[in-house]
Amino acid sequence: MHHFTYIDGILHAEDISIDKIAAAAGTPLYIYSYATLERHFLVFDRAFARIPHITCYSCKANTNIALLRLMARLGGGADIVSGGELYAALRASFPPEKIVFSGVGKSEEEIEYAVRCGIAMINIESEGELKVIAGVARKMGKDVPVSIRVNPEIDAKTHPYITTGLRKNKFGILWPEARRLYREIKETEHLLPVGISSHIGSQIVEIPPFVAAIRSLRQMVSELAAERIGLKYIDIGGGLGITYRNELPPHPAEYARAIEAELEGTGLTLILEPGRVIVGNSGIFVTKLLYVKTTAGKTFSIVDGAMNDLVRPAFYGAYHEILPVRQTTAKKVKVDVVGPICESGDFFARERAMPPLQPGALIAIMGAGAYGFSMASNYNSRPRVAEVLVKGEEFFVIREREEYADLVKGESIPGFLEG
Ligand code: LLP
Repeated sequence: MHHFTYIDGILHAEDISIDKIAAAAGTPLYIYSYATLERHFLVFDRAFARIPHITCYSCKANTNIALLRLMARLGGGADIVSGGELYAALRASFPPEKIVFSGVGKSEEEIEYAVRCGIAMINIESEGELKVIAGVARKMGKDVPVSIRVNPEIDAKTHPYITTGLRKNKFGILWPEARRLYREIKETEHLLPVGISSHIGSQIVEIPPFVAAIRSLRQMVSELAAERIGLKYIDIGGGLGITYRNELPPHPAEYARAIEAELEGTGLTLILEPGRVIVGNSGIFVTKLLYVKTTAGKTFSIVDGAMNDLVRPAFYGAYHEILPVRQTTAKKVKVDVVGPICESGDFFARERAMPPLQPGALIAIMGAGAYGFSMASNYNSRPRVAEVLVKGEEFFVIREREEYADLVKGESIPGFLEG
C-alpha cells in the first residue's frame, strides 16, 4: 500500500503531481509520502499492541532526519549501527532509552558516545567488543546495558548479500560461545546483561524463519534464566520484506501473531528493528530521460539518475518497478534503463517493457524509500540528489541537492603543489 497513484494520467505523490515537484526541486530526486510512512509505521507498531514492545526503526534504511523525527513522534525507537546514526537519531529526538546499537565493528569512540548518551542497550557481536565495552564502562564509571547478538543459524532464504543468520556469516555469536560470554558479562563490573538479539536477514517474505529464530532465542533465554541471568529484552531484528515485483510478504499483523505466540507468558519486552517494511514503498526515485540510444538492436533509455543515487539494481540485481510519470497507451518496447556513470553495471532495469518515451520525460522508480538515498555516493563526482517529503497538497525539501562545492568539501591541495 502506498500513496503514489495516477490522477488524470499523471503520477501523483498524495495530492501533488510528480511533474510539479520535479519542476520545483529538479531531477533526479527522491520523493517520500508522509501518509504512507505514517501508515506503515502505525500498522507495524499496532500489530504488536498486545505485548510489551518497542519498534526501533532501523535507521540505515533511510537516515533522513525528517523521517527519523516522524518515527520518533509516532513513539518509535531507533536501531543504529554507527556514531553517525546515533547523532542523527538524537537530532531527531529519539529518547536514548529507546535506542539499540547493532553492528560488528563498533569503534571505542562510538561505544563511548553511546554509553555517554545512555542508550537502551549495545548489541555485542564479539568477545573483543565485549572487552572494549567493559573497558569503556570502567573508565566512565557507568553501568552499560548490553545484549548479545546471537547467530541462530537460520537460513532466511533471501539474497546472499543480505542474509545474516547463517553459520558462515560475519554477524552474531554462536550459542555455545554466547552463553560463555553472558557468564562473563554477569561477572564483569558495570556490564548489565539485559537482552538477547538476532537479525537473520533482510527482505524475508515468509514467516517460518522468524518463528524459528524467536523460538531459538526463547530457548536461550530459558537456559540463561536457569543460570540466574535474567533478561528484559528479546530483540528479533528486522527483515520483513516488501513487494517489489510479485513477492507476497506476510502482513505485519500475521507476522506479529506468529511472534507473539512464541512470547506468551515470558514477561519479556520485544524489540523489533524494521527498516524496509516501513520506508521501502514510501519513497520513489524520480529521474528524467536524457537520451534514447539504439545500438546493435538494443535500446538504451539514458536517464539523469544513476547507480550512485540508487545502487540496488547494480549491487543486488534488485528489481524495481518503473513507471512513466505521464501515462501513455503507446505499445511497450524492451529497453535498458541506464544512468550516465562509466560502468556497465550502471542500470536500473534491463530488457524492461516500457512505453517509448521522449527525452525530457520523467520516470519513477518505485519502492526506493529503503536503502536508496542511504546507500548513495558521490561516484563520478555526482552531487547527491534532493529529498522531498510530501504531505497532502504540500511538499517540503528535507535535503537539499548537493552543489559542486560540496564535492570537494574538506579536500585541500598541499602547499608543495600550489603555484
Ligand atoms: N537490524 C539489523 C541488525 C540489520 O542489520 C538490519 C539490516 C535491520 C535491522 C533492518 O532490516 P530490514 O527490516 O530493513 O530488512 N542494503 C540492502 C539491505 C541490507 C540490510 C542490512 N541490515 C538492500 O538494499 O536490500
